[in-house]
This record gives sequence, C-alpha cells and structure tokens, in this order.
Amino acid sequence: MSKIIVLIGAPGAGKGTQARLIQERLKLPQISTGDILRARAEAADPLAGEIRALQAAGKLVPDDLVIRVVQERTAREDCRDGCVLDGFPRTLAQAAMLEQLAADQRKDIIAVALDVPFEVLEKRTTGRRSCPVCGELYNIYFKPPKSDETCDRHRGVKLVIRADDSEEKVRVRLKTYEQETRPLLDYYEKSGRLRRVDGTKEREIVYQELEEIIKEG
Ligand code: AP5
Ligand code: MG
Repeated sequence: MSKIIVLIGAPGAGKGTQARLIQERLKLPQISTGDILRARAEAADPLAGEIRALQAAGKLVPDDLVIRVVQERTAREDCRDGCVLDGFPRTLAQAAMLEQLAADQRKDIIAVALDVPFEVLEKRTTGRRSCPVCGELYNIYFKPPKSDETCDRHRGVKLVIRADDSEEKVRVRLKTYEQETRPLLDYYEKSGRLRRVDGTKEREIVYQELEEIIKEG
C-alpha cells in the first residue's frame, strides 16, 4: 500500500530540508503547505492578503483553507504512490481530515517527529537563507553558501530571508507549535504510527534514518 509520510517538527526542525531529499531520492512528491501558501500569498486578491498577514505574524492559516489545499494537491497523479507532507497536519482537526483522505485514497499514514531542542531551532530559523530561484536552503551558521549570500547553484542570485524568520516571529511560531501541533505527537503515538528521529544530527544521517523508516513501512 502506498504511504503518506507526515513530517512533524517545530519551525526549523528540518522538515523542508528532509522533504526535498525524499522527493529527489525516493521520488515521493514534497507537499509543503508553507511553500504553497507563501506562493498563494503573492497574488493580488483579499485572500492573498489574509494569508500573507497570518504567515508574517507566525499564526496558523484557517484549517478549512489548508485542508482544501492538501485535498487538491494530493489528488494529483504524481501522488499515486504516496507523498511527503511537510507542515501538514498541524492541528487535530487537520489530522482528522487526513485520516479521511488517506482512507479514501487507500494510503497508510506514517508520522515522523523530527526532535530538535529550542536553542538549535532559533539558530536554524534566524540563520536560514534560501535561493529564490531553486528553493535550495542554506544557513549562515550550519550551511553557509560558498560565496557570500548567493546561491551555489545559481551564481549571482542573492539569497533571501523569510518574512517570518525574525527572532520575534520565531518566538510566536514556536509557541503556536507547542499549543497547536505538539498534541499531534500523542495522537499518532497512541495509534502506533509515530516514529522519532533525532533532528539535531547531520542532515545526511537524519535522511538515512528517514529512508529506513519509509522503506520499512
Ligand atoms: P512552514 O513554511 O511550514 O514553516 P515552519 O513549520 O515554521 O517550518 P520551517 O519551514 O521554518 O522549518 P523546517 O522544519 O522546514 O526547517 P528547514 O528544513 O527549512 O509554515 C509557515 C507558515 O505557513 C505557518 O506559520 C503558517 O502561517 C502557515 N502554514 C503552513 N502550514 C500550515 C498548516 N498546515 N496549517 C495552518 N497554517 C499553515 O531547516 C531550517 C534551517 O536549518 C535551514 O537553514 C537548514 O539549512 C538548516 N538545517 C536543516 N536540517 C539541518 C541539520 N540536520 N543540521 C544543520 N542544519 C540543518
Ligand atoms: Mg519548511
């Protein structure tokens, strides 16, 4: 049976980094609700303005909107053999919706918690930079680009800082995670579907552990 891999982790835990690797190497599409919403927020309509304001404030976007996004995206042909959800579900209501969706699509859910302590999360988020062309992630503390503030793959393209990566916004996002998303760990644990990975390890090691979990099923 094909699988929906759910990556659960606080801001900066490495969900996007690992989801990109899984997509590249295991050919399971990465579905990042954060990225999809950031792209949607660039339009010039009232909904875009609403999303932009919520994301910039570090608050969650309403469940019904995110649920619609995931329903549409997972229904596409490329998700036939499964997908990796990066940043969804984030509330118990979203988790309930995912149960329904997985049952309809005859897919199993595997949830993986990426455990990273607070001090590291702060550096991971405030130090993050990304390429506006290819989305490659860098970090001024842990993975600096070869040449100052430009992408290794796209010479001359200046890396960008996410609007919600200031110290102040990161604090709000971490609080939102504790209140809204951490309860999901218990939720998946109780049904025996939670695996845990030490997200502080080097990214390749984290990936190897994830790959094993995905292949074991
Ligand atoms: P989203 O975009 O999902 O942000 P987030 O959850 O805050 O997580 P991040 O993207 O900050 O961290 P990450 O875990 O992906 O880490 P990364 O791999 O980049 O959501 C943003 C907003 O969108 C939300 O606040 C909300 O408004 C809205 N939203 C999204 N989904 C929603 C939902 N389901 N419901 C409602 N609202 C929703 O890594 C971070 C840094 O660390 C990088 O610099 C990277 O290079 C580095 N790094 C990664 N791994 C390692 C490692 N092993 N060692 C050293 N450095 C590493
Ligand atoms: Mg991310």
